[in-house]
Amino acid sequence: MAAVTADQTTQGTAGTADEAEAGRLAAFDATVAADDRIEPRDWMPDAYRASLIRQMAQHAHSEIIGMQPEANWISRAPSLRRKAILMAKVQDEAGHGLYLYSAAETLGTSREELLDKLHAGRQRYSSIFNYPTLTWADVGAIGWLVDGAAITNQVPLCRCSYGPYARAMVRICKEESFHQRQGYELLLALSRGTPAQHEMAQDAVNRWWWPSLMMFGPPDDASAHSAQSMAWRIKRHSNDELRRRFVDICVPQAQALGLTLPDPDIRWNEELGQHDYGEIDWTEFQEVLKGNGPCNEQRLTQRRTAHENGAWVREAAAAYADKHAARAGTAGTAAQPVEATA
Ligand code: 3HC
Repeated sequence: MAAVTADQTTQGTAGTADEAEAGRLAAFDATVAADDRIEPRDWMPDAYRASLIRQMAQHAHSEIIGMQPEANWISRAPSLRRKAILMAKVQDEAGHGLYLYSAAETLGTSREELLDKLHAGRQRYSSIFNYPTLTWADVGAIGWLVDGAAITNQVPLCRCSYGPYARAMVRICKEESFHQRQGYELLLALSRGTPAQHEMAQDAVNRWWWPSLMMFGPPDDASAHSAQSMAWRIKRHSNDELRRRFVDICVPQAQALGLTLPDPDIRWNEELGQHDYGEIDWTEFQEVLKGNGPCNEQRLTQRRTAHENGAWVREAAAAYADKHAARAGTAGTAAQPVEATA
């Protein structure tokens, strides 16, 4: 019998390793194709993991940075009812950030690492939150348009192939739906109010409309990640598909509000069965992404300051958790439950 050479042994091992890798990839592809979920302990391609961390981190960062422009109006809300609603909404956004950081942690990263990257400008957050909230009507426009765009983009993410992200999105979308309605109702009240209130509502819609369309990301032919993300079923629709769907939703809602959308080119396209709309200023979008939007610097500075100011809370929480873990560690051996005596 011929002896197996060292070279042959190496080739044999490599062959087995390659086959195992191919088998894992085939199982991953089959799970995605069957519309089942990939779970944290399942094998997944490195690039899938990295792309999910990228998108989920950007999403989580957007939720917590998005608290800033609206929190700006909590102390100036025109009634107790409006203040209570706005506080609840801003708290919801913090919760969304926490669900998403937790979901991202299942991929092997940590919240600390993601926040460090955000603070260092190495991870993005949504372009939309780099615009200022100049009047009370902006709170309504954010609810109607920004949360409306977020829902249009995020409902399909409830069917994302990665289980923890998909499940987080179910709850987030329910809450976003409340946010969208409160914005719509606020704008309706202003639109039907005095001429000055109506004008304030229209001005807010004029300023928030185009940035809201930019939330969906660059046009399909300039979207670096869409094709692969759709093949992996992270994304279910392209940026342009969702943007157009959003325009279709907004046109009749604007009519019902008695407000106009600041785009003379919006018109029904009989052939497509959808609305056409005007040219988006992609230079403005790119400038905001580069950090040159009206509020980029303010938002990041405030975020870093809030993080530094919260250091003592994190330290105290960690010390408290350690103390309880230490107690729990000894409880099984030494401490026995003691019955209360009368
Ligand atoms: N703002 C900032 N960056 C954006 C962006 C936007 N509106 N749209 C795209 N980008 C970035 C991408 O992150 C990517 O950057 P990178 O290569 O450096 O990572 C680059 O532009 C190219 O864009 P792609 O189209 O290739 O990127 P994606 O395929 O990831 O699509 C997306 C972009 C549609 C935003 C997608 O990531 C997505 O659906 N994300 C989840 C939803 C999300 O993050 N929403 C943010 C708003 S959250 C929110 O609105 C809170 C609510 O309370 C209102």
